[in-house]
Amino acid sequence: MLGVCYYPEHWPEDWWAADAQCMRELGITYVRIGEFAWSRYEPRRAEFAWGWLDRAMNTLGGAGLKIVLGTPTATPPKWLVDEFPGLTPIDEQGRPRGFGSRRHYTFSSQAYWRESARIVEALAERYGQHAALVGWQTDNEYGCHNTVLSWGAEDLKAFRAWLRRNYQSPERLNEAWGSAFWSMEVRSFDEVALPNLTVTEPNPAARLDYWRFQSEQVAAYDRMQCDIVRRHSPGRWITHNFMGFFNDFDHWQVGDHLDFASWDSYPIGLVERFPFGDAERERWQDTSHPDIAPFHHDLYRGVGRGRFWVMEQQPGPVNWAPWNPAPARGMVRLWTLEAHAHGADVVSYFRWRQASFAQEQMHAGLNLPNSHELSPGGREAAMAANDLARLGELPATAQAQVAIVYDYEAHWITAIQPHGVDFRYPELVFRWYEAIRRLGLDVDFVAPGAPLENYRLVLAPSLPIVSDGAERALVAATGIVAFGPRSGSKTRHFSIPEDLPPGPLQRLLNSRVTEVSSLRPGVKVGISGAICGHAERWREQVETRAETLATFADGAPALIVEDNYLYLACWPNVDALSMFMALLCRKAGLSTIELPGEVRLRRRGDLTFAFNYGETPWRAPFSGQPLLGEPEVVPRNFTIWRS
Ligand code: GAL
Repeated sequence: MLGVCYYPEHWPEDWWAADAQCMRELGITYVRIGEFAWSRYEPRRAEFAWGWLDRAMNTLGGAGLKIVLGTPTATPPKWLVDEFPGLTPIDEQGRPRGFGSRRHYTFSSQAYWRESARIVEALAERYGQHAALVGWQTDNEYGCHNTVLSWGAEDLKAFRAWLRRNYQSPERLNEAWGSAFWSMEVRSFDEVALPNLTVTEPNPAARLDYWRFQSEQVAAYDRMQCDIVRRHSPGRWITHNFMGFFNDFDHWQVGDHLDFASWDSYPIGLVERFPFGDAERERWQDTSHPDIAPFHHDLYRGVGRGRFWVMEQQPGPVNWAPWNPAPARGMVRLWTLEAHAHGADVVSYFRWRQASFAQEQMHAGLNLPNSHELSPGGREAAMAANDLARLGELPATAQAQVAIVYDYEAHWITAIQPHGVDFRYPELVFRWYEAIRRLGLDVDFVAPGAPLENYRLVLAPSLPIVSDGAERALVAATGIVAFGPRSGSKTRHFSIPEDLPPGPLQRLLNSRVTEVSSLRPGVKVGISGAICGHAERWREQVETRAETLATFADGAPALIVEDNYLYLACWPNVDALSMFMALLCRKAGLSTIELPGEVRLRRRGDLTFAFNYGETPWRAPFSGQPLLGEPEVVPRNFTIWRS
């Protein structure tokens, strides 16, 4: 149930056997290799140097390790970049992003597609049936370092072709984009320009289509790799390692053709990535916030259709955030068990040994950079291996009773036209997730349009475009369904619905939104009624024939209900949000436990896990002797009960 990321090409060959042996002794079963090694696979065009990889795979496999092989397309080698200068990406300001780190390619380069297909095929042909090979990882972290949206000549060419396919005629394109505005009409697809470097903001509809287009390219590129691998490597699975708080492409689409999803869990690094205020950053600086890793475990379990791995687990301080504290003692072990509680099949640490050279030399590994001396994180990985061995095979993960609809387009739309600079979709969803998890509940994430019938409670923190499929699923939902602000506020082509927001949701909610208002920091609009607190950042004016459950200070509806559908017309503060979640749970008939800010629960089959991110013990309201851990959950530790 544990794995590790290993780079044989970084270490003397006479260390490999001892490394493999130590991995086994630590309790590691899986080893991921190869995802950046193109310059070692193919030092010159068509001159393959497989010898070292043969020996590495045989050594690792010989020690009983199961190998996950990465396709090396995140790092095209220098000779390839020189041959095809057009494959490097261009940033939004029009500057080239050159060779010398990684991800220096655009998904729009046809030459790069051909070259990727060629190296993937060569690798899959050679190792697809290797006895120690169990699975594949495609590329590495699509989109990392802001590389989904590239803005060069190749991108423009591919975008025009995409528009031609989607709109057939320039007239239809002009109509869809509302190009009569500011004389933006084009007479042919060749007149379409990239929606960047305009004097003021570009047409939001063009921008949204550009995002969709690049997102679809990521999915198609991944599918191309999967098709090749599947041809040569029967019986092996394929995954991709997604990232945390990353929304530049539609992960549901990529997940569709993978065997399962995986993600790279850097809980402390992500504290710096998330728009927390200083107080929260400080509070969670060396433990992480107790919902950051779980949020992504649940999201990627959804993307993986019930299955996921943590492909890279933070083992100590990372190198890439503005500040990189060492995790508080206990956290590496806690995160490992927590991932399993959320249904992970495997947790694989990044990396076996800290590198003493190049960009990531300040990034911890399970071992110190010298040779075989475990780091503090390595010692905790050994403890986690021991815990997992004591637990034995874990029961299957059941469907949760609460679902959150996660919509990548919602992020694109609200990022393109935030209306208030702090209207951030990922943050809104995270806060709703946090509030429902504070009530002790398990959560599944679902794509818009996924079946909702089996959920007692469905949360859609914001769903600006309600597609026909999403509408059908929402109509068919039998539990309580709660929508947040801006739901139903846009058409597919980024305009306001003819009959006003919430567009297709009007018939479910019996209401119209006639005005929206973004609120400067510090501005609060009181809310009272079934929920109390205030709106911040955003509020709406709703006209309704439905029942009003709470009103704003000026008497306008803040929360309405029609049958099993509720609409919250604002960005709620913490108090209003937690009362809202409690109200929803009562309506849905869900029993809840109010947890302290540092504690979370999670069930897997008949096991209940409690995780304590705090500094004081937590006395759990459960009877019976724990399977593992203390009845009072120790700080930075966990307890597991069997029911
Ligand atoms: C991930 C990446 C790894 C390594 C790691 C460092 O984003 O996949 O290759 O760079 O971060 O934390």
